[in-house]
Amino acid sequence: MQIAIDGPASAGKSTIAKLIAKKLDFVYCDTGAMYRTVTLLAKKNNVGYGETLDILKLMSEHKIYFSNKSDGQHVYLDDEDVSDAIRTEEITNNVSQVSAIKEVRAKLVKMQRDMAGDTDIVMDGRDIGTTVLPNADVKIFLIASVEVRAQRRFKENLERGIKTPLKELQDEIAARDYKDSHREISPLKKADDAIEVDSSNMTIEEVVKRVTELVNEHK
Ligand code: DC
Repeated sequence: MQIAIDGPASAGKSTIAKLIAKKLDFVYCDTGAMYRTVTLLAKKNNVGYGETLDILKLMSEHKIYFSNKSDGQHVYLDDEDVSDAIRTEEITNNVSQVSAIKEVRAKLVKMQRDMAGDTDIVMDGRDIGTTVLPNADVKIFLIASVEVRAQRRFKENLERGIKTPLKELQDEIAARDYKDSHREISPLKKADDAIEVDSSNMTIEEVVKRVTELVNEHK
């Protein structure tokens, strides 16, 4: 069974997708982490975020993969665990530019489809239901208001010892939403057959319960 969870930045996709994957014992694939790792790869090599050819060359020379550890899934760039390095503000604020490159998307979409194969998987991102797994059994489009998403990011940042003004986070989220929804290739868009879940006034447990109900309906 394939479960696609799409939606805008900080809507809680990965939190929900991880919990659902654990509950159902499915593989989890965080496609945003892959776009973030390519962005980090460019940064590490002093390649501009819009330099298509240089980025493609780097992608062919380096390996991006996931590995499960006792505390969850980690993402690797060659031998380095980059799970934390891909979450910095620098990467967050530039990943939309890298993910708008058609050729980068083609390479990552292929990797994502290979990962899915015919295994039971929960995949989250922006274009899973529309492009990567158009035949997914269950498609969720998870949304929440910009205010609620900024609050969640604010709390997450505080837990990591970073204090970013709430207004700044709101502006960043709104800017990323705009770029992700207006790019030419595979923009963020609800698939026609996806079910929208608005988590603005829901707890994590309530969202997991709702998604589990939708999955059970498809069994
Ligand atoms: O889910 P996230 O915030 O970690 O994703 C980071 C960026 O990657 C997001 O701003 C857009 C891009 N992305 C994408 O274009 N397609 C996906 N399937 C997943 C993420």
